[in-house]
Amino acid sequence: MELISEESVSELLQAQTHIWNHIFIFKHSMVLKCAVQLGIPDVIHKHGKPMTLSELVSSLSIHPSKTQYVHRFMRILVHSGFFSQQNLDGVPNQEAYSLSQSARLLLRDNPSSIRPFLLMVLDPVMTKPWDCLSTWFRNDEVAAFSVAHGKTIWEYTGQDPRLNNLFNEAMASDSILASKVIVSKCKGVFEGVNSLVDVGGGIGTMAKAISEAFPHIDCTVFDLPHVLSDFQGSKNLKYVGGDMFESVPPADAILLKWILHDWSDEDCIKILQQCKQAIMRNGKHKVGKVIIIDMVRENQIGDKVSTETQLFFDLEMMVNLSGMERNEKEWAKLFFDAGFLNYKIHPVLGLRALIELYP
Ligand SMILES: C[S@@+](CC[C@H](N)C(=O)[O-])C[C@H]1O[C@@H](n2cnc3c(N)ncnc32)[C@H](O)[C@@H]1O
Repeated sequence: MELISEESVSELLQAQTHIWNHIFIFKHSMVLKCAVQLGIPDVIHKHGKPMTLSELVSSLSIHPSKTQYVHRFMRILVHSGFFSQQNLDGVPNQEAYSLSQSARLLLRDNPSSIRPFLLMVLDPVMTKPWDCLSTWFRNDEVAAFSVAHGKTIWEYTGQDPRLNNLFNEAMASDSILASKVIVSKCKGVFEGVNSLVDVGGGIGTMAKAISEAFPHIDCTVFDLPHVLSDFQGSKNLKYVGGDMFESVPPADAILLKWILHDWSDEDCIKILQQCKQAIMRNGKHKVGKVIIIDMVRENQIGDKVSTETQLFFDLEMMVNLSGMERNEKEWAKLFFDAGFLNYKIHPVLGLRALIELYP
């Protein structure tokens, strides 16, 4: 048998660990999804103080035969930073769990909860395409989603009310947090704007927040008819169904939040050209603009985790839609190819940014 040096052994074993880690890494997602489905963050939050294992076990709706597994399940969630474990004052060997900031963002009752987004992204309909990646690479389907389901995601949401609701709720939950940041940090962006169309605005969470923060702006939510169904507008908020590839209602400002990253460059140019026409149709003497909320890859000095999150999003767009996350150079090319002259990036939203785009 061939002998290997001490150094090579250590390198080999490190490589083995690296591979094992990547084989198992999806367990992070599945464990987190299960914790949310069991309501673990909610139960600990409701308890109002650090919760011991036995208190946690007796508060969860689980089968008695499964109680023995809870501490192992919690161990990895503590390791991943969703919960912390501390000694209870005056009680030796008694540890109790508390929520981290991330777990608080998963609470059912937190208005800014990411829970609906987690449940949508990790729904089997959305994870199945990941099993079809190599088939997708070998055929001419635009997205692995269509390989898995025989239709695009928008056709799927148009036909399946469960996925439609799951998707729209996920988007709405994201818009609650994003709109709070945008209306407080970016007031200047809305100065001089009297009308705004939120293209692909989902069930209208972002437009509603803008219409309330800036009551002088007439806001329109524009999305596919199956998304809008029977929503009621208010004094300065209305809902219009349509297809952004055909036409966009005229306004001073067109908002595109999490839209362009869903699409290829070719489709983005078509959407941006419709937006430009909508601004132009609104009035020759007004200064119109497009407001984009999306990621700008590599735009911030990213730590390893943030860079990885942006790469994950980029792949999610590739697999389930036919889009991508773009860096500034890629955005600029898109803007100029669509006939816009100027843009300004405001890095105000964590991994995402607000971009003002001028014709
Ligand atoms: C990723 S979601 C973003 C929703 C919302 N802007 C947000 O960020 O919360 C994309 C939206 O684009 C809409 N959409 C897809 N194709 C469309 C089309 N051809 N015309 C109008 N809206 C469309 C979808 O229904 C969906 O609501």
